[in-house]
Amino acid sequence: MDMSADSGQQPKYYTPDPSYRVHSWMGDYSWTYNEFVKDPDKFWDHIAQKLHWFSPYDKVSEWNYPYAKWFVNGKTNITYNCLDRHVLGDRRNKVALIWKGEYPEEERVFTYRQLYREVQRFANGLKKLGVVKGDRVCIYMPVIPEQVIAMLACTRIGAIHSVVFGGYGAAALNQRIVGAGAKIVITADMAIRRGKAIPLKHIIEEAVINAPTVEKIIILRREQRTPVELHSEMEIDFYEAMADVSSDCPAEVMDAEDPLFILYTSGTTGAPKGIVHTCGGYMVGVYYTTKYIFDIKEHDVYWCTADPGWITGHSYVVYGPLSVGATVLIAENTPDYPDPGTWWKIVEEYGVNILYTAPTAIRMFMKLGEEWPNKYNLSSLRVLGSVGEPLNPEAFEWFYHVIGKDKCPIVDTWWQTETGMHMVTTVLGEPMRPGFVGKSVPGIVADVVDKDGNSVEPGKSGFLVIKKPWPSMMRTIWNNDERYRKYWETIPGCYQVGDLAIRGEDGYIMVIGRSDDLIIVSGHNIGTAEVESALVSHKAVAEAAVIGKPDPLKGNTIKAFVTLRVGHTPSEKLKNELIYHVRITLGPIAMPSEIEFVDSLPKTRSGKIVRRVLKAKEMGMDPGDISTLDE
Ligand code: PRX
Repeated sequence: MDMSADSGQQPKYYTPDPSYRVHSWMGDYSWTYNEFVKDPDKFWDHIAQKLHWFSPYDKVSEWNYPYAKWFVNGKTNITYNCLDRHVLGDRRNKVALIWKGEYPEEERVFTYRQLYREVQRFANGLKKLGVVKGDRVCIYMPVIPEQVIAMLACTRIGAIHSVVFGGYGAAALNQRIVGAGAKIVITADMAIRRGKAIPLKHIIEEAVINAPTVEKIIILRREQRTPVELHSEMEIDFYEAMADVSSDCPAEVMDAEDPLFILYTSGTTGAPKGIVHTCGGYMVGVYYTTKYIFDIKEHDVYWCTADPGWITGHSYVVYGPLSVGATVLIAENTPDYPDPGTWWKIVEEYGVNILYTAPTAIRMFMKLGEEWPNKYNLSSLRVLGSVGEPLNPEAFEWFYHVIGKDKCPIVDTWWQTETGMHMVTTVLGEPMRPGFVGKSVPGIVADVVDKDGNSVEPGKSGFLVIKKPWPSMMRTIWNNDERYRKYWETIPGCYQVGDLAIRGEDGYIMVIGRSDDLIIVSGHNIGTAEVESALVSHKAVAEAAVIGKPDPLKGNTIKAFVTLRVGHTPSEKLKNELIYHVRITLGPIAMPSEIEFVDSLPKTRSGKIVRRVLKAKEMGMDPGDISTLDE
């Protein structure tokens, strides 16, 4: 693919006000990047030294391809840096967390001291239930303060949390509980969405069937008038779990390389992958990028709209912002409910200074019209952020002009569950180029290469890769190290990201999309294999193949091609039933928008379904080489 902007027209940039260039604790982009290049270990050491270590590391990094260790033999605890450090310092009474519920006036506020106390009490509650360092705990909750408290309580005592997004269905949840071998599941009786209670308990009940490692389920009962009944053999109330315990739970001393958490992400084939992040490197990576990329100031209100159940929430709702001592806003809401002004109302009411969101939300607001944001005073906004999928130039322009009023820089951040932290972006103060993410974050060496690992010429597409290890890189995939190694073994010497990209003459990188079978729908990673196996688990389906179709709003939508078993005939009713079936098993985010019944699917002679042929046909494009296909 050629890049028109570099082959003829002058690229378009927006240059932010020079005041944005000044980073109080590091220099501007070139200076900082050069510091990194001069001595990478010294660079990371400088950052790590800003955090608390119970005992110092002997060495900054150790690279034994494809395995990395960072801050070797250092001892720390991320919650010490997110809580104790601030409470013992001068942020004791600073607001740490603001939760905004869906109903007007529904809000909860925690100072650092209050959050510290709640986390320690819940951590002691977990200990009382027998949870010890290294145990896995699954958290399946809506966006409420207890979700954050549960995460921090786990890492406080060295338990490895595996947070599962609250919108997943029972089968997806079961797979993740079993995969991680969770001893405890922490959940809530319901989520609130569009003014309605969405019950969660029956999903959990179904998900723990055939999950033999689960010993207890901790349930936060939000409905107090008629609280759901608990079955005492297995189930325990969230607040009862933390009753009668001390509010003093010193942070467990963790080795820098001990696992911190597992987070499942969709894979191109088979089961989702349990990405493993570790205590030291992850902490340094998210601390650094939160501070440097967002430049959060002491009195800022920072709002990242992601659910803490995704990596964006782990890194940039919970661990990054709390490690820098920020005031973090979270909201349990839907952007267009009760009306499309709801987010802008929150920005006005709380004086949000930094707003970090996803292109899919921006495109939805674009469609709904400027009149909604224009009703509110958005002058508090200073920095805007985007993540999850390409921020197309039209969405960039809209975000920049309508929300940022031509003054707020946009940091479009490219990264992944696997990378733990921001990898490619346009650092504040640097000229922004719509459609392009930007350059490697200082500390990272990203490149666009061919399949042999050679850099491609500017303007030509290639594979986006990372050429050097970094502290917050995943260390392995839970119970599947072989799959981990593949990331580093496919392209010689590089970590393969799985995205296609183009680098312009100016060094700016444009991410085009996935090079594999993952589909990014509204910024969420959906594995074709997962949707296909959900479809095939329906009695009428013989085989299924799923593709992503470009969509102006969601980035992509899912289309499924299905062959039926003998005795079943295509009908509209069956289509709806299949869509519903995926919704129940995997959750609404993985629902196909379209189903087409076909007589057969294109396959290789060895029987592998060739989705690219279906996609080409769907898009009216040339399917390429089909000589290896079966008749
Ligand atoms: O394809 C890229 C896309 O999201 C993928 C990673 O998904 P996940 O692990 O779920 O993490 C999402 C949040 C970090 C990437 O491989 N992606 C993420 N950010 C961007 C992006 N694509 C383009 N531009 C981005 N800023």
